[in-house]
Amino acid sequence: MQICKTVTEVRRTMADLPAQGSVGLVTTMGALHAGHMALVAAARADHAAVVATIFVNPTQFGDPKDLEAYPRTEDADLAMLKDAGVAMVFLPNASEIYPEGEETIVETTHLANILHGVVRPGHFRGVATVVTKLFNIIQPDAAYFGEKDYQQLAVIRRMVTDLHIPVQIHGVPTVREADGLAMSSRNIRLVGHERSDARVLYQSLTVAETMVKEGKTVELVAETIRDIIGSRRAATLVGLDIVDAAAFAHVTGIPTHPIGIMIAVQFKNVLLIDQKEITP
Ligand code: PAF
Repeated sequence: MQICKTVTEVRRTMADLPAQGSVGLVTTMGALHAGHMALVAAARADHAAVVATIFVNPTQFGDPKDLEAYPRTEDADLAMLKDAGVAMVFLPNASEIYPEGEETIVETTHLANILHGVVRPGHFRGVATVVTKLFNIIQPDAAYFGEKDYQQLAVIRRMVTDLHIPVQIHGVPTVREADGLAMSSRNIRLVGHERSDARVLYQSLTVAETMVKEGKTVELVAETIRDIIGSRRAATLVGLDIVDAAAFAHVTGIPTHPIGIMIAVQFKNVLLIDQKEITP
């Protein structure tokens, strides 16, 4: 497995990869877990070579303390990627990605500033900008993203369409712990009983799914989610959006098309998100 720290090294290494066939990309911020490895496995199934990136992107963090506290487990990450058969890892530092600061940005103007974008201003602009840079540096045929980050996936799909970026985007289903908690690098920041309270995200989405399939209104579904999450002291619901899965616009009444439910729950030290796409 090649480890590259600079764009020049990546370009040199990539020049050798096309001879082996197409390239699948998995972008990460490190602190890898089974969810990331599912992305790598999906990319490996489709492509001769898989490239991974590890970069904790400063421009997608609103709060500098959140950026500082983001877990960094580089040695373990590299060992996991090597075992999974990754051909190359790009591990840049911030000055390699933003050599001249942030003069040029990429923003999906509407999608980035609704729903979770309201809770996290600037977040999706940072994501779109860094993902565009990584696509330009690596030039993969396809890239793999978790469905857990539902709005992120929609932002990236839209950006690739609008900017005519020749990369196929694949969404990969969320990998969960045995009790349903979506795997996330942030889970290790849950303290004490917060870990068991965090089950409430998936529980509320599961109840919501049953209700939607029974023909209940989204208003009633939203109220039930609020009640379930509100029943845990450690958990504060800070984002709840029920949107049409295709248009990403809020829905009302009894849904007739697939919907996406996105929730964001604040614990003492960490904001967790989860989502479910449901066909009525
Ligand atoms: O999903 C993530 O880990 C990050 O948002 C991404 C896509 C690697 C961009 O920094």
